[in-house]
Amino acid sequence: MKGGRGSDHGSKINEIKSKSRFRKGPAPGDPSQKRFSGVLPPAALIFLVLVFVAGAIVTVDHKENLSILQLQPRRVTADEEPSRPAPPASDVHVDATVAETPPAEEPVDMCENQCRAPGSEALPRGIVQDMSNFEFESLGGNPERRVARTMKSLLAIPVGIKQKAVVDKLVSKFPAANFTVMLFHYDGAVDGWSDLPWSRRAVHVAAADQTKWWFGKRFLHPDLVAEYDYIFLWDEDIEVDGFDPLRYIEIVRKEGLEISQPALDHRSQIHHRLTARARRGGAVHRRFYKTAGGGRCYGNSTGPPCTGWVEMMVPVFSRAAWRCAWRMIQNDLVFAWGLDFKLGYCAQGDRSMNVGIVDSEYVLHRGIPTLGDVGGGGGGGKTARASSASTAADRYAVRLRSYTELQIFNRRWKQAVAEDECWTDPYPQPPTPASKG
Ligand SMILES: *[C@@H]1O[C@H](CO)[C@@H](O)[C@H](O)[C@H]1NC(C)=O
Ligand SMILES: *[C@@H]1O[C@H](CO)[C@@H](O)[C@H](O)[C@H]1NC(C)=O
Repeated sequence: MKGGRGSDHGSKINEIKSKSRFRKGPAPGDPSQKRFSGVLPPAALIFLVLVFVAGAIVTVDHKENLSILQLQPRRVTADEEPSRPAPPASDVHVDATVAETPPAEEPVDMCENQCRAPGSEALPRGIVQDMSNFEFESLGGNPERRVARTMKSLLAIPVGIKQKAVVDKLVSKFPAANFTVMLFHYDGAVDGWSDLPWSRRAVHVAAADQTKWWFGKRFLHPDLVAEYDYIFLWDEDIEVDGFDPLRYIEIVRKEGLEISQPALDHRSQIHHRLTARARRGGAVHRRFYKTAGGGRCYGNSTGPPCTGWVEMMVPVFSRAAWRCAWRMIQNDLVFAWGLDFKLGYCAQGDRSMNVGIVDSEYVLHRGIPTLGDVGGGGGGGKTARASSASTAADRYAVRLRSYTELQIFNRRWKQAVAEDECWTDPYPQPPTPASKG
């Protein structure tokens, strides 16, 4: 990348019409956790009954809130924003004096326990919408008449006009009813796409000379894509003759893959054997075997490069995995090298089970020699400035930056691990030495 981060390039979002329909409704503290101590005189018993009745009301109210959320088309809020554990309930010492005074504490506690998103404290909760989406609204439509939408996924691709034909074929494979499409234009040639039939339903974002991870970090915040089941953050030079997106989603859902990729056809440029299409077997593979030479992989291998990761050219994230992965993407490390080997931490469980490669739906990675396509690593930078003249000097600069980013990322990771006393590593063993740096 030359010219630093391109902060002097204006970036524009062409059509983002967003409609948010979420509200975060964290649960009030559960009153049933209150502990009681002491001997209970009859008056106290009556008080206790009152407390439980009040508790029941609060619980019902809480359930109603949840069911309202669930009635809305997406259940993410309830699923993904687990209510904070109630703060240690202040012990209620029940004795005669307490029983005589009305329990003034209860309603106060309820409000104190509400956890409100920063910035929303000044607003009544019901008006706050913390999340959004990229769905279009019709300007003339009646906003009172909401049609329930089906669950969708999001396809986001960095594109340059030179790849128009292959991108057209790729996007056309993704049914409009099930996928929202977002194009990240890194060459500024936005208008050149307008003749394609799906162009008007795509969200176009343009920023000169930026990479997939730069765009993803800035425009795919988890709260903005919370409505989408799966996030396809794909490179552009991908052929999809052997790929059906709906069948793919069916498979990853059934197999419980939180992070996945379609297998690479054997005619592809293959940098890592794990991601190559398995010749036999089922719909999915999660590891590969290498019993000779360096970097061996056995059935007992627990991490990258043997299992538990995918390459960064065609990753697919579940909503929950993306919520984690987005946070790991570094603002300044635009090629994201090294990120792939750490993605397993976002797998919502055992990475050797929840990360996998789908063989029955596969793609061909054309491997157009573009800038930054230097083999392996993150792969994410390969689309950077693909439209520019690929001089040897540019190529060298990108390669150098990618490797430097890898070192910086690994250093930051190590330091973060050392500094965070509250974090325990679920994968404490040093990863099997990779074949490359
Ligand atoms: C795709 O969209 C159609 C039409 O809305 C819907 O019936 C179908 O269930 C969707 N498929 C998936 C896998 O979401
Ligand atoms: C894993 O399996 C290989 C071959 O079966 C064996 O040589 C190796 O010691 C095993 N490693 C561990 C950590 O169990």
